[in-house]
Amino acid sequence: MPWLELQLTLDAAAQPDAEAALEDLGALSVTLMDADADTPDEASIFEPGVGETPLWQSLTLLALFEADRDRRGIVHVLQDALPELAPGAIGFREVADRDWERAWMDRYRPMQFGRRLWIYPWNIEPPDDRDMSAIVRLDPGLAFGTGTHPTTALCLEWLDRLDLAGKTLLDYGCGSGVLAIAALKLGAARAIGVDNDPQALIATRDNAARNEVSDGLHVCLPNELSTDAQADLFVANILAGPLAELAPRFAALCKPAAPFALSGILAGQEGELLDRYRACGFVDLRAVHREDWVRIEGMRE
Ligand SMILES: C[S@@+](CC[C@H](N)C(=O)[O-])C[C@H]1O[C@@H](n2cnc3c(N)ncnc32)[C@H](O)[C@@H]1O
Repeated sequence: MPWLELQLTLDAAAQPDAEAALEDLGALSVTLMDADADTPDEASIFEPGVGETPLWQSLTLLALFEADRDRRGIVHVLQDALPELAPGAIGFREVADRDWERAWMDRYRPMQFGRRLWIYPWNIEPPDDRDMSAIVRLDPGLAFGTGTHPTTALCLEWLDRLDLAGKTLLDYGCGSGVLAIAALKLGAARAIGVDNDPQALIATRDNAARNEVSDGLHVCLPNELSTDAQADLFVANILAGPLAELAPRFAALCKPAAPFALSGILAGQEGELLDRYRACGFVDLRAVHREDWVRIEGMRE
């Protein structure tokens, strides 16, 4: 069945009103993209956490409707809800069933992180001679985390360097599960994936099953995490705001001397976070840059 995709380009400040209007219109899903990216590949889809504002000045929202929806009716409702909308900000196209959520799959290629780790899209078979132990087969579904985003790449490269044998990794903000699954493929005994988006927990479970690592994986919402859970290694790719807020919680979740990495930090935001994590009992801190993004890594005291 074909679908109707609406593209709406607007100022980031208008995003909450636009999302509310699209919800009222019965949009089946809404995806955010950086409107300044040249191609959808570069669009850096960075799903904002609950209640967080997006990172970009200008956004494109992609909304999906059933194919027979009245386009003019949709335009009228949006123009009423968003009087500042620029002429030409709204576009439509029909997309075939499989295209939605999956068009990127055609452009998504195997990628190597560090020395051992490979991410393969689900639709591409790794060559027989490649060591399967460090290959993650991925279908992110609706959740964030394919390895194409610099924040994920920073975490994957960090994981690749570690000796994970027999360890437990806690992946806070697991999205597609890419980091937890990579850790299991690299030899971790257990991984715990935590996310406040139930869709991400489904994607993580699905991807773990595809990679045959379900036995080592536990996924849950933040409030379901056992109070005495403590990890040998800790990674969180969220955003600077929640990372700052959650620092004491993360400190409690790490065993003494646990290596940890934080990502989702824009260049320029690392100074305050370094101070905050130092104050919360993390040591040997350093910032690693990639494009506009920063990874903070170090160790629990
Ligand atoms: C940028 S994605 C990272 C996904 C994956 N770990 C990766 O590195 O590609 C951030 C994820 O964190 C989740 N998230 C955001 N804020 C959170 C919070 N306060 N608690 C738990 N999960 C959160 C989002 O739902 C999203 O799935």
